[in-house]
Amino acid sequence: MTTVLDLQRFKDEHRRFAVITAYDFLSARILDEAGIPVLLVGDSLGMVMLGHPTTLPVTLDEMLHHAKAVARGSRQALLVGDMPFMSYHVSTEQAITSAGRFVQEGGMHAVKLEGGGRVVEITRRLTELGIPVMGHLGLTPQFVHQMGGFKVQGKSRAQADRILADAKALEQAGAFSLVLEGTPAELAARVTGAVGIPTIGIGAGAGTDGQVLVFHDLLGITTGKAPKFVKRYANLADEMTRAVTRFAQEVGNGTFPGPEHEYAANGAAPASHDAAAASEHKEAREEVKYGAG
Ligand code: KIV
Repeated sequence: MTTVLDLQRFKDEHRRFAVITAYDFLSARILDEAGIPVLLVGDSLGMVMLGHPTTLPVTLDEMLHHAKAVARGSRQALLVGDMPFMSYHVSTEQAITSAGRFVQEGGMHAVKLEGGGRVVEITRRLTELGIPVMGHLGLTPQFVHQMGGFKVQGKSRAQADRILADAKALEQAGAFSLVLEGTPAELAARVTGAVGIPTIGIGAGAGTDGQVLVFHDLLGITTGKAPKFVKRYANLADEMTRAVTRFAQEVGNGTFPGPEHEYAANGAAPASHDAAAASEHKEAREEVKYGAG
């Protein structure tokens, strides 16, 4: 299984690594079997899966619901649960309780927290308690209203210095890695050189140790204009539309279901089956299953 120590080794050996979001059992299984070392149950699920305009409405209970499904689908990946808005903002005690639920109930191996400042102390406490923390600086979506929108951060000298200082403070506090989102590429590269822990970029250029993308973005399931930093490695939205349209057409014109999709009564094959298929049918003692299992 991938651990936080492996990520550190990747950085030390200059091996870049991929991180992808996962929100459900099946996608976690696909990603895990593809050998993706880190799966992030991101609070982006509030936008991608639940249709909210920001990540702010997502609750800890909703995150845990998805985290549990991802944990059931994964065997080898390091699983990181994203602490949602207001699950660590009230007090350090609240942060410990929320992070503990992610590990104990959600099956996560680590948690991610947005921001520097007070989050540094929370990171220290969680790390002391054996809960690894992934930091998140730059464009931190939980600060959307304070940032005045989803805007690139760290363009000014003052902002860049602040991000660099927060990155060093999070490392000092024990964070095992750091997401850098929506920052100029030069700044992300500078932070990556200035800290010993691995950095993971999204919209932060090629100079970080790892890269993270939202699963649905990279597969082209999310529709509309993608942000500049997204590369679509497939166009599954179109593919899905084609498939469901064809299904509806075949239902309409009676070509689906065909004889091969039918069950026979009392173990006998449907009349339209040939002999080989019929004996296969008998032996199979058909189990009705939803999904490929
Ligand atoms: O919620 C999320 O998916 C994230 C990643 C984009 C880093 O925080």
